[in-house]
Amino acid sequence: MSKKIVITGGVGHIGSALLNDSRLKAFDEIIVVDSFVTSRYSSLFNLPNKIKLVKRDIVSDSIKDVLKGVDTVVHLAGTVNAGETIDKDGLTREVNYLGAIKVAKAAAQAGAKCFVFLSSASIYGPMDSEDVRAENTKHIYPQSPYAKYKHQAEQPILDLDIPKVYVFRFGTIFGYSPGMRFHTVTNKFLWNAITGNPVTIWKPGTGKRPYLSLHHAKDAIFNIMKNKPESGVYNAVSEHWNPLEITDVIKRYKPELDVKFVTPRILNQDGYLLDCSKAEKASLYTTSPEIALTHLEEYAELMSYNILGNLECFDG
Ligand SMILES: NC(=O)c1ccc[n+]([C@@H]2O[C@H](COP(=O)([O-])OP(=O)(O)OC[C@H]3O[C@@H](n4cnc5c(N)ncnc54)[C@H](O)[C@@H]3O)[C@@H](O)[C@H]2O)c1
Repeated sequence: MSKKIVITGGVGHIGSALLNDSRLKAFDEIIVVDSFVTSRYSSLFNLPNKIKLVKRDIVSDSIKDVLKGVDTVVHLAGTVNAGETIDKDGLTREVNYLGAIKVAKAAAQAGAKCFVFLSSASIYGPMDSEDVRAENTKHIYPQSPYAKYKHQAEQPILDLDIPKVYVFRFGTIFGYSPGMRFHTVTNKFLWNAITGNPVTIWKPGTGKRPYLSLHHAKDAIFNIMKNKPESGVYNAVSEHWNPLEITDVIKRYKPELDVKFVTPRILNQDGYLLDCSKAEKASLYTTSPEIALTHLEEYAELMSYNILGNLECFDG
């Protein structure tokens, strides 16, 4: 029987990394649904896999026809950039909560066997103690509409009648992809470093937070579809760092980087730590402090010398 996968939000940062991965060849039919609200057309250049592209909005359009006969759905479409969602509560609810549940219900009705939903580690929010939180913790303090609605969508999706439902709480992604975005901490720091701009760190800048390399993110998504562990929520983190630890690594490639401190709009900038042993036990990806650091170093080197190595930036 032919296997069909539908990836929503597939032209985005994570989606474009999946589209370029040979492991997608496990599927006979690959359909990407995206509204192009973020205009990442470059995600579709030189694809190694045959892709069917459907330009639709998961909130205002139906994708029931697209889901007919689907085996697996990876739901990546979302309103991202947590800080900006403070001014976009309504849109964030529509896309990250109502839209996500709508896609998952349509997948259940279409008889999908596996549904992967990208929630976020940011649903946990900061804690002033150094407790390490596992998936079943009661300490959940979302700090933005982004995190609040991701969290609210999780249980209704898990409750649907789909044989395997996975909710991933990914740490902040770092890594190169054709459709990458630069809102996230590491990507933004690196872009600023390369273009000769200062990096701004929210005070006090000492709290460690969870980060996930794009290599590990891809491994986690492909291995969960392959290994099919029990349904449920899975944390996924390569390593916990504070912002200064990240800028220290970037400075190895861009020593002139200027670091400034600012007062945050999202009130609490304390750190938080996640337990990822469940994902490790399910063999979703392999990490260690050394592996995570190598991924960060390789990424900073790739961006500084290869991808943007010929770029020279001037003021004005
Ligand atoms: N990048 C991270 O650090 C990170 C961390 C944790 C979780 N996530 C989650 O992973 C998913 C993918 O993240 P990303 O970094 O690739 O984001 P992204 O913004 O690069 O990609 C999201 C894609 O969704 C599309 N989209 C947005 N609204 C849509 C709508 N209404 N209908 C159809 N398509 C729509 C956009 O056009 C974009 O291509 C998101 O749901 C995000 O919340 C990302």
